Amino acid sequence: MTHKPGDLPSLTVNCLLRELGGVTMVLTGTAHFSAVVPFDAAFIQPILSREKMGFSVFCFLFEGVEKMMGQQISAGISRTVQTRLVLPPDTNHMGTIFGGTVLAYIDEIAAITAMKHSGKVVVTASIDTVNFLSSARIGNVLILEGVVISTGRTSMEVYVKAECQDIETRERTLTTTAILTMVAVDANSKPTPVPGVIPETEKEKKLFENAQARKERRMKLNEFAKELV
Ligand SMILES: CC(C)(COP(=O)(O)OP(=O)(O)OC[C@H]1O[C@@H](n2cnc3c(N)ncnc32)[C@H](O)[C@@H]1OP(=O)(O)O)[C@@H](O)C(=O)NCCC(=O)NCCS
Repeated sequence: MTHKPGDLPSLTVNCLLRELGGVTMVLTGTAHFSAVVPFDAAFIQPILSREKMGFSVFCFLFEGVEKMMGQQISAGISRTVQTRLVLPPDTNHMGTIFGGTVLAYIDEIAAITAMKHSGKVVVTASIDTVNFLSSARIGNVLILEGVVISTGRTSMEVYVKAECQDIETRERTLTTTAILTMVAVDANSKPTPVPGVIPETEKEKKLFENAQARKERRMKLNEFAKELV
């Protein structure tokens, strides 16, 4: 919910964002809202009264505040479609495409999708939930589609699906689905904040809603993965 100055008559503060290791929001002074600030009065008022700040300098940590304070952009901005022809070098002795080739395509489209969303260079942090549902054959057309479905502070979840199209029948079959986590990095290869995403389609909205559950599962799996190192 976005509040304008008139929505919070007694809370006239300037907001200055700083990044100090984690995310720190520094509220200072006595002035007025210098911008339309997308946080909720129900969230900020108890903190202010608890700290008895009286509009003196006040700092608190709040994960994701940059995202709340910042831009949120539509999923459509990131949506990317790529079409490929399945050729003999891409296939095994049965004439079906290598899983690794499909993964390479998925990784590439996920990177393009995340870069379009963030406007930044990205790296692949993880590829999970890859499902090879059916295979594409030599001569098939592979249609890949990627879209950002959720964001963290610096990471973006990208959903990719690959469909195989038979040229003669024009019939399309879903061959692969995957969810990847891409992280935006700055010139020093350090993670850097990304805008939030506003899902568009019903499927995107559902995937957006379940993002936290996927993140928790991913973190658990990462714990197991440490044993492999
Ligand atoms: C991904 C990478 C940038 C994370 O760096 P880091 O120093 O661990 O940074 P942080 O711990 O601050 O994590 C940054 C973000 O990455 C996410 N992340 C880190 N490791 C992750 C993993 N294995 N899976 C999913 N997300 C991960 C964190 O959750 C965090 O997201 P958030 O900011 O939205 O909350 C770093 O590990 C890296 O560069 N890895 C190599 C990437 C690469 O070369 N990929 C293959 C070729 S492109």
